[in-house]
Amino acid sequence: MKRKSTWIWTVAAALLAAGLVVNVSTAAKKDKQGPKKAAVERTRKTVRMLDDIYKTAVVLITTHYVEGKDSLPAGTAAIALFDAVEKKGWHKATLLDVSGEPYDYKNVADDDFEKAAVKKFKAGEAYYDEIVTKDGKHYLRAATPIPVVMKKCITCHENYGKAKKGEVVGAISYELPIE
Ligand code: HEC
Repeated sequence: MKRKSTWIWTVAAALLAAGLVVNVSTAAKKDKQGPKKAAVERTRKTVRMLDDIYKTAVVLITTHYVEGKDSLPAGTAAIALFDAVEKKGWHKATLLDVSGEPYDYKNVADDDFEKAAVKKFKAGEAYYDEIVTKDGKHYLRAATPIPVVMKKCITCHENYGKAKKGEVVGAISYELPIE
């Protein structure tokens, strides 16, 4: 009797260990495979929504509140908003120059992803993204271009006056967790 129960326990322990091994290896596989396609698509859609909201806000602020060079620029307000959103842990967003003559040099592409995005936009592409993995978590880095959307922009950014219609002068770079 005693012998039989020891045997059962041994089998149970072996099964449990095998289960654990399978579980661990599926988790490792999942990580290697990268995020699920549907999750990446959901994150891309969120980027499109955020991009539309942020750019619509910048145009509305510029239309209704910016009167001249001394007004608070919508770009400054957008940077303050991006900082607040990042501090709350939602996502990262950065306003970048593509024109080559930034108002502020802190707004210049400063890593490989952003530099690649600027290159793509100068070549006429309308969107750029990459999936990155940090500490086993997947993130979508995405960038969208900003053309000279209104004449008022030139009040402060004089160099935008040289841009052709629709030419890209800036970009927004995003980083969102893929969930
Ligand atoms: C009232 C002046 C003013 C107007 C009008 C204005 N900007 Fe700006 N813009 C600024 C300032 C100042 C900064 C730097 C903000 C900072 O870094 O805090 C800036 C930053 C930017 C940047 C980041 C790159 C850089 O040059 O530093 C982009 C892109 C940008 N603005 C695009 C636009 C667009 C597009 C419009 C029109 C919708 C516009 N701006 C209208 C003053 C202005």
